[in-house]
Amino acid sequence: MKFPDLQIGIIGSGGRGTLLGQLAHRPGRGSRVVACSDVHPATLERNRAEYGAGLFTTTDYHELLRRDLDAVIVATPDFMHEEHAVAVLAAGRTLFLEKPMALTIAGCDRILRAAARTRARLYVGHNMRHMPFVRKMKQLIDAGTIGEVKACWVRHFVGHGGDFYFRDWHAERRYTTSLLLQKAAHDLDIIHWFCGGYSRQVSALGGLTLYGDLPGRMPARRGPRRLAAGAMQLDLFPPTRARGLNHRIDVEDLSSVQMRLGNGVYATYAQCMYTPDYWRNYTVIGTEGRLENFGNGEPGTLVRLWNRRSGYDPRGQKTYRIPVGRGTHGGADPKIMDEFLRFARHGGHTDVSPLAARESVATGCQATASLRAGGVPLPVPPPSAALRRYFA
Ligand SMILES: NC(=O)c1ccc[n+]([C@@H]2O[C@H](COP(=O)([O-])OP(=O)(O)OC[C@H]3O[C@@H](n4cnc5c(N)ncnc54)[C@H](O)[C@@H]3O)[C@@H](O)[C@H]2O)c1
Repeated sequence: MKFPDLQIGIIGSGGRGTLLGQLAHRPGRGSRVVACSDVHPATLERNRAEYGAGLFTTTDYHELLRRDLDAVIVATPDFMHEEHAVAVLAAGRTLFLEKPMALTIAGCDRILRAAARTRARLYVGHNMRHMPFVRKMKQLIDAGTIGEVKACWVRHFVGHGGDFYFRDWHAERRYTTSLLLQKAAHDLDIIHWFCGGYSRQVSALGGLTLYGDLPGRMPARRGPRRLAAGAMQLDLFPPTRARGLNHRIDVEDLSSVQMRLGNGVYATYAQCMYTPDYWRNYTVIGTEGRLENFGNGEPGTLVRLWNRRSGYDPRGQKTYRIPVGRGTHGGADPKIMDEFLRFARHGGHTDVSPLAARESVATGCQATASLRAGGVPLPVPPPSAALRRYFA
């Protein structure tokens, strides 16, 4: 059955919003980007070239929300998510909200309450749940391949930290809370997904160990800085040579967090913002074996299973080759947009979950508070019973 195209608006239509817009713009094939809002007029001009001269553009997102739209993508920086998300939901529109859901636990709960109150559909863009290596590990875990999951250890090597995270708004806690939230929100969500529960206690350590001492800062400015397109320094290493750093840097560049989940699983996440290589390594240990990934979707990505006793054995007992997905983030981005557009039209189950998105923020926020208090163990408060019931 052929449906008319869903009418899609975007708030924050440059940066990540460019890619999401390209994926959502399928004129005659189910969905069409018809309205864009951004603070930068130059972005809106580019949007008109991308989506056609008939595109409605505005620097005031309230005007966008007065249009007759079926769904709105919010891809603004983290510190605007709460305001934009609540406004979209209050207008009764289906919402695609980029991760992390918000900067605070209270902010997430306000978004969840707005969705429950208006019954508007809420979808949070945790695209890692659609990465082929993640899905393979999840499938093996759910099939009982390693028995009952007891532990998950994640090492996150953020090779391009100096490019992305210390040259613009990401470097300031007032705009991100921390990189333990901003960057790790993905991994905290996947840890919860693999382990079948949510963190209820955290303890974290870390600090600003490299970027804080570097020269090469940009002049001070009042508002958030945005990294210009094409300003990456991909051939730059070591990162001590980085230039064009944000004038203020008060987020940590090295951190690790211990988590105890409500179901008794223990997890660890460690992040470094200045490794030469960029990738994530997950180890999941169960009562009958362990899984580990090598690569994140590039050609040659593997998931390996160990389920017999041995000494050091780099290959394990079984190797699963992960096919290369088509599209960005290992093919996850086209898949998450397919799922969102289906959800916008028909509703129903999705592999991402607003409650889980909130729980990853709650874990990141409490881990940040623990880290800044010298590692004290802190509880992670769950959402209210009413919100849990509504989103279940
Ligand atoms: N899921 C993923 O893999 C992934 C990848 C990259 C970014 N993101 C998320 O996407 C979001 C945007 O990240 P980015 O790197 O594109 O940021 P960015 O700084 O490039 O900003 C994105 C766009 O929002 C616009 N903008 C900024 N403030 C605005 C405002 N007040 N109103 C309207 N528009 C505004 C900017 O001009 C820009 O066009 C972040 O929350 C980030 O976490 C997710």
